[in-house]
Amino acid sequence: MKQSVEQHPTVSRIPGLGIIVMAAGLGKRMKSNQVKVLHHVAGQPMVLYAVDMALQLAGHRIAVVVGHQSDRVRQVIESGIVDRPGSKSVCIVEQAEQLGTGHAVMQSRPAFCHDGEARPTNYLILNGDTPLLKGETARELLRVHQTQGATVTILTAMLDDPGGYGRVIRRQPDGDCQSERTSSDVLKIVEDRDATPAERATKEINVGTYVVSGEFLFDALDKLEPRNAQNEYYLTDIVGMAVGRGRPVAAVTLQDPEEGLGVNTRQQLAAAEQVVRQQIREHWLEAGVTMRDPDSVWIDAGVTIGRDTVLYPHVSLEGKTIVGEGTTIRSGVRISDCMIGNRVEILDFSVLSQSEVDDDAHLGPFVHLRPGVVVRRKAKVGNFVEMKKTELGEGSKANHLSYLGDATIAEGVNIGAGTITCNYDGARKHRTVIGKNVFLGSDTQLIAPVTIGEGSIVAAGTTVTQDVPADSLAIARVPQINQVGWVAKRRMLLAGSAPSRDSARAAGEQTKLKTDTASSKVKKRRATSAKR
Ligand code: UD1
Ligand code: CA
Repeated sequence: MKQSVEQHPTVSRIPGLGIIVMAAGLGKRMKSNQVKVLHHVAGQPMVLYAVDMALQLAGHRIAVVVGHQSDRVRQVIESGIVDRPGSKSVCIVEQAEQLGTGHAVMQSRPAFCHDGEARPTNYLILNGDTPLLKGETARELLRVHQTQGATVTILTAMLDDPGGYGRVIRRQPDGDCQSERTSSDVLKIVEDRDATPAERATKEINVGTYVVSGEFLFDALDKLEPRNAQNEYYLTDIVGMAVGRGRPVAAVTLQDPEEGLGVNTRQQLAAAEQVVRQQIREHWLEAGVTMRDPDSVWIDAGVTIGRDTVLYPHVSLEGKTIVGEGTTIRSGVRISDCMIGNRVEILDFSVLSQSEVDDDAHLGPFVHLRPGVVVRRKAKVGNFVEMKKTELGEGSKANHLSYLGDATIAEGVNIGAGTITCNYDGARKHRTVIGKNVFLGSDTQLIAPVTIGEGSIVAAGTTVTQDVPADSLAIARVPQINQVGWVAKRRMLLAGSAPSRDSARAAGEQTKLKTDTASSKVKKRRATSAKR
């Protein structure tokens, strides 16, 4: 399958840049049992936004500071970056007790102190809860840091409602929003809870992204003191400290303040989700994907879509799904972690997960693919068909109302309506193997383990309990009984009346028609039951 659109930009890492991601906090304001940085934004845990960015920028090591639910966070990071270039440079460090952002960064020190290895020239420090931040903004921050010869460079934003954020206190607020200001006027950052009313009125906030010179960072952190409303070691205090030592502090102000959104609450999580979703849609529209109603389409951050693919309203593409070119996905379809080929058609209300659908296949409506399904080229899966751990061979068809589980189905097979693989005996699962060009009639049950040989036909209504050799007909049906006139007689009995002449004649005529093939024994039984 061709993957024609590359979502991740080309990476150019910055020599000597070490990166620290802070992800140890619980996130009390989320009111959640799950640690904040694991909450998803567009299908991706928040912390991976920061780690992903770090992987694109860091020429030196990356330290991710974890604490609350650290095993889980570590696992999410490790599995999230396993196939990313540079993932070996990521080092996860523990902050056993969450004593503040300054304390968090302190814990990363050993990650950068390897024998015989040069220390980073600069550190980029990222909050783990700022998923909208762009890589180019971090590069700009670094550029300003270097051109201004700053010791600390901070990223700021102007907000109408700055509540909750740390405020940037400047010597001469000038009210102009240029992206670069002189290095001299930033005095300090004051946290919301520690701010005086005058400071709190400041609309310029600290985004929580910093570039700090290598020789300054850990030395300054050693001198932090937790003298504030939260009794925490604030990373932000290094700004005032640098100013106090006569070191240059620079600041970059975001053009688009939205990019600085810090996620502390569910409201902010929802806001971040909206923004990222919109960016993702714009990316794929730009890349040549048609969306009939973009606002209703959900595409996760890890999804890839080929050009000329058409997405109808209310389509959700989740996880690491890859969709090829020229594929059509109709309304209400949800696809998670699947590989979908080129020119595939998926009709309305189908749900697919962890499966592969090859080129020119046709699915739906109302198809359910559970994990482990492979639908080969030009195969067809029709309405109300559920599949699990099953391969449907090239050009094979399962068009109606079937359950196909733990089955290997070769090419050119017809699966009749209502076919069921009876794969589970209550304790274990068993496989069904169906050879090339087999024809299964409607309403067949295949009691697994069972094999249907190549070219065979299974008659409609058959329950297959034994293997069928190649090129054979398998038929297993209970003989049919037609008890002629039985219903008419019962009707009369229920009505409590004698048969009318017409109905008696009709019953007599039908008796003459030899419609049943039952044995004489069966006929006898019919006679007695009719008497009852
Ligand atoms: C922080 C800044 C604030 C800024 C805001 C931007 C400080 C003191 N304040 O406040 O100026 O406006 O971000 O969003 O830095 N963390 C740890 N260990 C800890 C505490 C926090 O790893 O002991 C991590 C959190 O998991 C989170 C990040 O640091 O990813 C920021 O912590 P949070 O508590 O959200 O800080 P804010 O109060 O938002
Ligand atoms: Ca925060």
